[in-house]
Amino acid sequence: MNETSSKPILILGGTGKTGRRLADRLTARDLPVRIGSRSTIPAFGWENTATWGAALDGVGAVYISYYPDLAVPGAAETVGEFARLAMVSGVRRLVLLSGRGEPEAQRAEEMLKASGADWTILRCAWFAQNFSESFLLDPALADEVALPVGNVGEPFVDADDIADAAMAALTQPGHEHQLYELTGPRLLTFAEAIAEIARATGRNIRYTQISHAAFDAMLREQHVPAEFVGLLNELFTEVLDGRNSHLTDGVQRVLGRAPKDFTAYASETAATGIWSN
Ligand SMILES: NC(=O)c1ccc[n+]([C@@H]2O[C@H](COP(=O)([O-])OP(=O)(O)OC[C@H]3O[C@@H](n4cnc5c(N)ncnc54)[C@H](OP(=O)(O)O)[C@@H]3O)[C@@H](O)[C@H]2O)c1
Repeated sequence: MNETSSKPILILGGTGKTGRRLADRLTARDLPVRIGSRSTIPAFGWENTATWGAALDGVGAVYISYYPDLAVPGAAETVGEFARLAMVSGVRRLVLLSGRGEPEAQRAEEMLKASGADWTILRCAWFAQNFSESFLLDPALADEVALPVGNVGEPFVDADDIADAAMAALTQPGHEHQLYELTGPRLLTFAEAIAEIARATGRNIRYTQISHAAFDAMLREQHVPAEFVGLLNELFTEVLDGRNSHLTDGVQRVLGRAPKDFTAYASETAATGIWSN
């Protein structure tokens, strides 16, 4: 075991969709892990730079999952500042979770590269797990998913594939200075994705396209914080306009296998009972 692999890997967002899966994979291989989030001791907060040094102390590498989204103003600068501090702290190996077709996310990637780190970028499509571990779970449970997006194909990627890719990047040589664009194997519209979940659960879950104004009003009625309303509207306006409606070979390149299909995600997730109420 080299010096880097004997030190813990810091997983920022390590209790979230991809970070939790990565932590499970590393732990299963008896590799040391440090989770960085607001609920860990010591706590790590993106908005509180004073918490960063303790999180970085003595680690060999970092998985960077920014929250809430690299698309929010200032995220790129924050990631750049974090990467520079990591370098000063002697932590060169940084793996960034990024998003496709988001100018701000791509700016964060450039900031990471400019830090001089041994970087790897996982530039991801929409996560399938948004339907089961995020803001689309409640609408799915209520049998009515309403979003301001129509007939646009999105290659939903599974968080398991992202965690496998992060695991490979952090534990195997040869992934430094590589950008992997990770998508699933198939384009699905949101209506088709919901139909897959409906089939897997045996429930009558409907998908409805609504206007941006109606979406905005719905979120405010549900008391979603204003910054999330803005973020979600931006994602649905700017990213789901067809620019990402193509498949990539990123999963195949990093893992040497095909990505997981949405049908497998839907049936495995249905079997966990998360969509049963
Ligand atoms: N969701 C997608 O479809 C998608 C697609 C492409 C890229 N991405 C990127 O993926 C990243 C993560 O998004 P996600 O939706 O998957 O989130 P997530 O990882 O599921 O959940 C959030 C994680 O971040 C931590 N966290 C929350 N607020 C924090 C704060 N202020 N400071 C430090 N840690 C905080 C949470 O733990 P605590 O609550 O304990 O702090 C939790 O571990 C984003 O940068 C986004 O741009 C997402």
